[in-house]
Amino acid sequence: MSETNLRDLVRERYGEAARRAATGGGSACCGGASAIAGAKDPITSNLYGANQTLDLPSAAVSASLGCGNPTALAELHEGETVLDLGSGGGIDVLLSSRRVGPSGKVYGLDMTDEMLALARENQAVARVTNVEFLKGELENIPLPDGTVDVIISNCVVNLSADKDRALSEAFRVLKPGGRFAVSDVVVRGAVPAEVRRSVELWIGCLAGALEEKEFEAKLRKAGFGDVSITPTRVYTIEDARDFLSAAGIDADAIAPQVEGKFMSAFVRAKKPA
Ligand SMILES: C[S@@+](CC[C@H](N)C(=O)[O-])C[C@H]1O[C@@H](n2cnc3c(N)ncnc32)[C@H](O)[C@@H]1O
Repeated sequence: MSETNLRDLVRERYGEAARRAATGGGSACCGGASAIAGAKDPITSNLYGANQTLDLPSAAVSASLGCGNPTALAELHEGETVLDLGSGGGIDVLLSSRRVGPSGKVYGLDMTDEMLALARENQAVARVTNVEFLKGELENIPLPDGTVDVIISNCVVNLSADKDRALSEAFRVLKPGGRFAVSDVVVRGAVPAEVRRSVELWIGCLAGALEEKEFEAKLRKAGFGDVSITPTRVYTIEDARDFLSAAGIDADAIAPQVEGKFMSAFVRAKKPA
């Protein structure tokens, strides 16, 4: 599938996910709970502590489609400018806005109109003013060079069809000394070609996940230093069984090749000062 077709399909499917979330239908896509009605998927569930989300709009919490909790792991300081790549329903933007305070600013970037509408609605309900949601793509970030202190993201880099371009755009908009602090699905070692080829599993945040060494190499190639990848959840074949079956893949047949290889991880890097 071409890069443009893949991006259009990601936009279409996450648009549907936003519409479902807006009508109280719950989240789905990353982790593929969409394929198994009513299922709690192992990737997106239980990412945030109840005390963290207590005073957030419930639609922002139920629209959460990430695979980690980047704002819990990232260092964010009063007055900083933060950019959330692929901000979805806006949960991490709203959490970051508290941390940077009124003198700081948080941008959420997303290419899907329905997600932007949901995020802006959540912002209005939360009455947060130091936040702005921008329409655009990771591969062409609509912000000037050297203007962001911290880039966060939650399960989106894996969806990009041009990861080199996305990472070099992230590098461009960061200030010297700026931090990249991102949660994403990564892979340890090789995974079967049928998994990599599956469009359903790409939409579900698995097929497009970078191998960890490759992720590190791409970050260095983009100019980053101090690169590290720390696993936060490692997935078993049981976690992926229903999801693989829904994508037409025999989980038992490929179990030895995928067991323990997919993980959610916190990816850190720095733009040299
Ligand atoms: C898996 S969801 C994660 C949403 C949010 N980060 C969260 O944790 O709930 C992926 C989001 O990234 C957006 N997205 C995917 N690829 C993108 C790209 N290349 N440029 C901009 N947004 C993108 C989708 O529209 C969707 O809102």
